Amino acid sequence: MEIKAGDSPLKQLFRLNRTLPTAAVYARIEEIERPWIGRLIAELEAGTTPVGSRAEWVQRLGGLLESERAGSDSSRYLAERATRAEFRSYVREFAVDGLTEAQNFFPSIPRLPIKAQMAVMRVLIDEFGCGNLMQSHSYLYLALLEELELPTDLPTLVDGTSDETFGFLDVFYWLTTRAEDVEYFLGGLAYLEASIPSAFSFLTTACERLGITHGTYYSEHVHIDGFHMKEMQTAIREYELARGLDPTKVWIGALLLSRLLGDAADAAVDRARGRLDAPVG
Ligand SMILES: [Fe+2]
Ligand SMILES: [Fe+2]
Repeated sequence: MEIKAGDSPLKQLFRLNRTLPTAAVYARIEEIERPWIGRLIAELEAGTTPVGSRAEWVQRLGGLLESERAGSDSSRYLAERATRAEFRSYVREFAVDGLTEAQNFFPSIPRLPIKAQMAVMRVLIDEFGCGNLMQSHSYLYLALLEELELPTDLPTLVDGTSDETFGFLDVFYWLTTRAEDVEYFLGGLAYLEASIPSAFSFLTTACERLGITHGTYYSEHVHIDGFHMKEMQTAIREYELARGLDPTKVWIGALLLSRLLGDAADAAVDRARGRLDAPVG
């Protein structure tokens, strides 16, 4: 994907991560990514205490999910009050995620011990509809975009996506490919799979209220991510058995995703309501 004049660093990073990685491309990725991730990780580390064991990680994740279960103001707004136009704007903002989701998880596989690989692969197979196009998550998102008469081609969608969303998208390329320890990825994905059933239930409510018929993307996640959450805990357990685990890194990965996804979702709702400038492009 070619860089365009006026692209923000995080938009550039997304395009570069989906470009053939020549030495020059890779150098630019590291130049943008390192300070951005370094600052985020340092902030999160400063705001938490070390995690003593895998059991403590499970407990802390439970506490974080519990604190988020009632939904943010933006989630409740979407469920209860958003107009069709506002919801459409939100769907457009997350379209790049919907159309590319899970594609960039694959580089984690060779970094994991074999039993952890199997658990993550079971998640990935579902993300791709077990090879059935009609069930693949990206295809479900495509149907939602079509119903709302939104663009479906990635270049157009990338142009109009905001920085907060790129933060959420870009982090996975770091987690799977360049993070020194893959525990950050395991924790990040474990958080994501565990948080989505409750987070997306607000979106299924919004679809029902607004008479949107292609909300299967959301309802399918509410259903299947309950299984994915368990698979990710299996992956973490198997990782520990094979190699030992740094549970603090798993926890920081979860906090990282909670922060970036929360910021992206809040900004998407604020933009839909005209409270933030629309992205350029
Ligand atoms: Fe998915
Ligand atoms: Fe999932």
